[in-house]
Amino acid sequence: MKTYNIAALAGDGIGNEVMREAIKVLRATESKFKFKLAITEAPVGWAGIDAAGKALPDVTLALCKKSDAILFGSVGLPERDPTIPKEERPERAALLRLRKEFGLFANLRPVKLPKVLAHACPLAKERQGDGIDILVVRELTGGMYFGQPKKTEDLGGGNFRATDTMVYTTPEIERIAHVGFKAAELRRKKLTSIDKANVLENGILWREVVTRVGKNYPGVTLEHMFVDNGAMQLMLKPTQFDVMLCENMFGDILSDEAAAIGGSLGMLPSASLGTTSGEITFGLYEPAGGTAPDIAGKNLANPIAQILSSALMLRHSFGLNEAAAAIESAVQRAIESGHRTGDIFSASESGARKVGTREMGDAIAAVV
Ligand code: IPM
Ligand code: MG
Repeated sequence: MKTYNIAALAGDGIGNEVMREAIKVLRATESKFKFKLAITEAPVGWAGIDAAGKALPDVTLALCKKSDAILFGSVGLPERDPTIPKEERPERAALLRLRKEFGLFANLRPVKLPKVLAHACPLAKERQGDGIDILVVRELTGGMYFGQPKKTEDLGGGNFRATDTMVYTTPEIERIAHVGFKAAELRRKKLTSIDKANVLENGILWREVVTRVGKNYPGVTLEHMFVDNGAMQLMLKPTQFDVMLCENMFGDILSDEAAAIGGSLGMLPSASLGTTSGEITFGLYEPAGGTAPDIAGKNLANPIAQILSSALMLRHSFGLNEAAAAIESAVQRAIESGHRTGDIFSASESGARKVGTREMGDAIAAVV
C-alpha cells in the first residue's frame, strides 16, 4: 500500500476547525480506497509566531520539504500585533514565502454553484443559467505581489511614498497560459484571458504571449477581456465563462467575486502547483477564503473549501482521481441532503438544516 506524506498546516482563525474536518474526511476516504496517508501537523502563521517566534518556523518548512503535499488552512489576523514588521507577518512570511519557495506558480480555483444552492448565489436565478462552473487559473508567483522594488519611503513631513512593482516575463506568462489552455481542453474549451492591455505594459505583454501560446491549442476558443469588464461580466453573465486566466492580483480579486457567485467563499478550494496541470506534482492546497476571525472557534465555519482542497490534493499531487471524485460527490450529497452551514443557509429553503462545522464534516465523511 502506498503511503503519501502530507504536511497539515492549519494556521490561524478558522484554520484549525476546518482542517479537523478535512482530515476526518481524508481518513474516511483512506479506509475506503486503501491507501495510506501520513499526516503530520505543524504550526504556521500566528500559531507559528506563538510556538517558535516565526510565521513559518524552521521545523514547519523542513516538514513541507520532505512531504509529498501541503494541506494548508489559513493565516493572518489583521488585528494582531501591529508592531510586528510587515515582512514578518504571516501573509508574507508564511503563505507568500511557501508559494515562492516551492515555485507554486499555478493556482487553480474551481467555482461551482450546486443547483440546490441557487438561493446562496447573490445573482438573480435567470443569470445563473444551467449552473455556474468557472475555473479561475491565477498566476501565483509574479506580478505585484513579488515585483521589485517594493518599499515605503519616508518623504518627511508625515508624507510617505509606497511602491509596488508589477513585473512579468514572457516565460512566466507562457507557463501559466499553458496551464490555462490545458485545463480548458479538459473542460468546455473556452479560455477568457484577463488583462488591462489598454493601460498596462504588463497587460500588452500578457495579451501577446497568451495569444501566441493559444496557437498550440486550436480546440480552445480564446477571448481577451479587460479586468474591469471581466468583473462586471461575472455579475451580468457568469455562465459565459469556462476558464478565466488571470495574473496574480486580478486573479485574487476575481476569484473572491467568483466565489460569492458560487454560493460562498467558504466553498472555494484551491490548488497551487509548481508544474503544468495534469502531471502528478507537489502542491499546496488551501481554501481561498481567509481566517474569518469573527467566527473562529465557534463551530460556525464552512469546512467545504478545506475538504474540497484536500480532494484537489488527492487528484493533483497523488493521482488518486477516484478518491478525489468520491470526496467531491460526498460534498455534493451532504448538500443535497440539506446540510447547511450559516453561510449557505436560508430559512426559506425547505428541507435545509443549519449545522455546524463538525456536523458538516461528519455528514460528508459519512457518505464518502
Ligand atoms: C488568497 C489570499 C492571499 C492572497 C492573502 C491571504 C495573502 O487572499 O489566497 O487569495 O492575496 O493571495
Ligand atoms: Mg484572496
